[in-house]
Amino acid sequence: MKMQALKELFRKVFGSAGNPVHVYFAPGRVNLIGEHTDYNSGYVLPCALTFGTYLLIRKTAGKDVKLASENFTYRATVPWEEIGKKHGSEWVNYPIGVINQLMQKGLEPTGMEMLFYGNIPNGAGLSSSASVEVVTAEAINDLTGLGLGKVDIVKLSQKAENEFVGVNCGIMDQFAVGLGKADHAIFLDCGTLDYELVPLALGEYKIVIANTNKKRGLADSKYNERVEECASAVKFLKKKKQLESLSDISFDEFSKIKPVIPDETVRRRAVHVISENQRVLDAVEALKNNNLEEFGRLMNASHYSLRDDYEVTGRELDVLSELARAQEGVLGSRMTGAGFGGCTVSLVHSSNIRVFMETVGEGYYEQTGLRADFYVSEIGDGVHRIE
Ligand code: GLA
Repeated sequence: MKMQALKELFRKVFGSAGNPVHVYFAPGRVNLIGEHTDYNSGYVLPCALTFGTYLLIRKTAGKDVKLASENFTYRATVPWEEIGKKHGSEWVNYPIGVINQLMQKGLEPTGMEMLFYGNIPNGAGLSSSASVEVVTAEAINDLTGLGLGKVDIVKLSQKAENEFVGVNCGIMDQFAVGLGKADHAIFLDCGTLDYELVPLALGEYKIVIANTNKKRGLADSKYNERVEECASAVKFLKKKKQLESLSDISFDEFSKIKPVIPDETVRRRAVHVISENQRVLDAVEALKNNNLEEFGRLMNASHYSLRDDYEVTGRELDVLSELARAQEGVLGSRMTGAGFGGCTVSLVHSSNIRVFMETVGEGYYEQTGLRADFYVSEIGDGVHRIE
């Protein structure tokens, strides 16, 4: 949708009189490797996309927060006193949850009109929710002069999702959406929040995202179950070693003491997290050394670990990534995001992309009856003001 049309819509919904309207943008993200490690204080390697969420926002004299979206018909007017309350199961909980967090950081009652427009496919595991949260936080922080830094914005957006939306997600999505940089991946240590922007020198290769278009169903409850299983693994390992998270132990040491975890499933969850952390370190090394073959191999290994040990892939993601791996010019392919549906990410040679999309798309339809969508992704900047 063009900016002019969005401004037109804003005026139609909220009227044209009043303060100037400002425009902010926050991207979605794709994670290259390091899955289900963030809430274990581990390593991740995501990048920001060029599609995301636009927010047109205007301060008003009153104290009501008015919210509309181009994507959903539901609109809301929330009086300031009700900002702390959950607003049914509508999309407005994301911005309201963020405003609630901003209040706890000192935001004074402020009337606002907000129009959202997102072009990230919803529920595809490309962080449409983090994108809405972070664009809300950045815009209000900037407009009101609240003075919060980017990392504060990232943290409070995650908190909004944890407390207000009820998913115990880690910090990866909000961090990538907040601090991404064009043509770079973010190598982030989720334990310390130390990070490095690593140039994505992919040469003739492109990042291709494929959406399974599988509805994610029980994703939230399964996600929270994995978070608990990891906590349970840590609890047992503590009997043999001092540690705070699964990122505090090497694979060798884990192998020696793992019988202390009585449940075989919980042991496998730990195997995934500990091995995935090492894969991220190896992948960053491979990227810096221009060893894209090795990078692709690590992507594949990550998928197998998520499939066999962490059990978050499911048939659609397995079929889609297997088909991808079988194509010419593909270095690696894996699920990205929480799993249970959503997208795969593949490294594909430019000259093979057209055939890749056709062949993988057809094979996927034959095996699952679902149509996949493909995106050749450009890597963009984190949240910023457009005007
Ligand atoms: C979701 C969560 C992230 C992260 C990934 C899995 O995207 O929001 O915090 O845990 O799943 O890596």
